[in-house]
Amino acid sequence: ILKILAALAAGYLLGSLNTGVIVGRLYGKDIRSLGSKSAGLTNTLRVLGKPAAVLVLAGDVLKGIVACLIGLRLGVYVQSGEATDCVSLLAAGAGAVIGHNWPVYFGFKGGKGALTAVAVLFMFDWTMALICLGLFVTIVASTRYVSLGTISAAILFMVISFVPVFGHGLYFYAFTFLMALIIIFKHRENIRRLLSGTENKLAF
Ligand code: G3P
Repeated sequence: ILKILAALAAGYLLGSLNTGVIVGRLYGKDIRSLGSKSAGLTNTLRVLGKPAAVLVLAGDVLKGIVACLIGLRLGVYVQSGEATDCVSLLAAGAGAVIGHNWPVYFGFKGGKGALTAVAVLFMFDWTMALICLGLFVTIVASTRYVSLGTISAAILFMVISFVPVFGHGLYFYAFTFLMALIIIFKHRENIRRLLSGTENKLAF
């Protein structure tokens, strides 16, 4: 249990390095008071443009990967049913997403966690990650609503985690459920805007 808590804490401290806030500061802006007010990739692209968005993409993916590597290194595996999940990896990944959304270094005000969650999912099960990314790209390409793509992918992610072919267990279900819940909760303003037809569309 100590190793799982250490993984969670390490993930949280890494995830709290919210690249959107950091890059925004380099540009002399706080993206949390601009655009959708979210410290994430989409809002960085919207407010600061493509070069800044590339930095955020790299930073937020990288911290998810590093957190997972730490979790993997801690090496706590737990069996549930037929499956054996690396629980320390899941804890570090969950910590990274929580840190991204509620960063300890930046007044607990961050982003929505989707990009970091995708990086974690790629580390845990890249097939599932690709399926979710496929749905995300399809929805964003056809509607230009990034939030709709993210919410749909988060729901799909939770649902397909139960498909036996992926061979995961109880701890992974708990992880996907928590991640989907956090991502949907963080998108509550987007959901309101989507329902009222006022959500921002992706524009280049
Ligand atoms: O992952 C965030 C995206 O789904 C929505 O971002 O800035 O439009 O609220 P934003």
